[in-house]
Amino acid sequence: MLLRCLILSVLAIVASSFVLPSNLDNCAPPNGTDHQMHWWQCSNGPVQFLNATPYDSTGTKYEYPIHLSKPIVVKTQINNPTNTYVKPNLRNTVNLWKYGGWSGCTWTSIPTLGLLKDLSACDHGVPCPVKPGNQELDVTIDFTQFEQIINLLKDNQPYQLEYMLHDNQSGDDSCMMVQAWAYLQ
Ligand SMILES: *[C@@H]1O[C@H](CO)[C@@H](O)[C@H](O)[C@H]1NC(C)=O
Ligand SMILES: *[C@@H]1O[C@H](CO)[C@@H](O)[C@H](O)[C@H]1NC(C)=O
Repeated sequence: MLLRCLILSVLAIVASSFVLPSNLDNCAPPNGTDHQMHWWQCSNGPVQFLNATPYDSTGTKYEYPIHLSKPIVVKTQINNPTNTYVKPNLRNTVNLWKYGGWSGCTWTSIPTLGLLKDLSACDHGVPCPVKPGNQELDVTIDFTQFEQIINLLKDNQPYQLEYMLHDNQSGDDSCMMVQAWAYLQ
């Protein structure tokens, strides 16, 4: 009886020490993502990103946290100094990270299985042509067609998304990093 009791309590301690690191409880929401989307530009230009705001799939309503089970619209304000970007030369690649878990309060890459690499940006959410000038650019991010990726995500978590654009006509690169709390429902 005593032995059984001892074994059970040892099991309980082992179980709890395995459960603890796998949730976000010990991590502060990175960069205030529990309240608002955090973003920064990860390229040097020529295109400058001045602002980015998350909207729902209709593009009419500010929505935060974002819902990755539906398309989202990120309204960006950009300054494009020189070139016009057109289909099929404008290419986009998206990389994803999740936060916390076994590795502690850090970002861990989520495999995108090559599905979000070197896509035709004008066919995947970028309104083209993107002409020179200071303008609002409404970029749609839509994972709904990539069920294999959605299946790797968990509900009610922060995610980091790197949105890269490459124009193979001019060689221009643009990059935006976004950190956002996301629901899957
Ligand atoms: C918070 O955002 C800054 C850029 O604004 C970035 O350099 C830093 O790595 C971010 N921190 C985390 C925990 O993601
Ligand atoms: C850019 O990529 C597209 C799609 O792969 C291709 O059709 C086009 O020829 C490329 N243009 C240049 C200048 O490499």
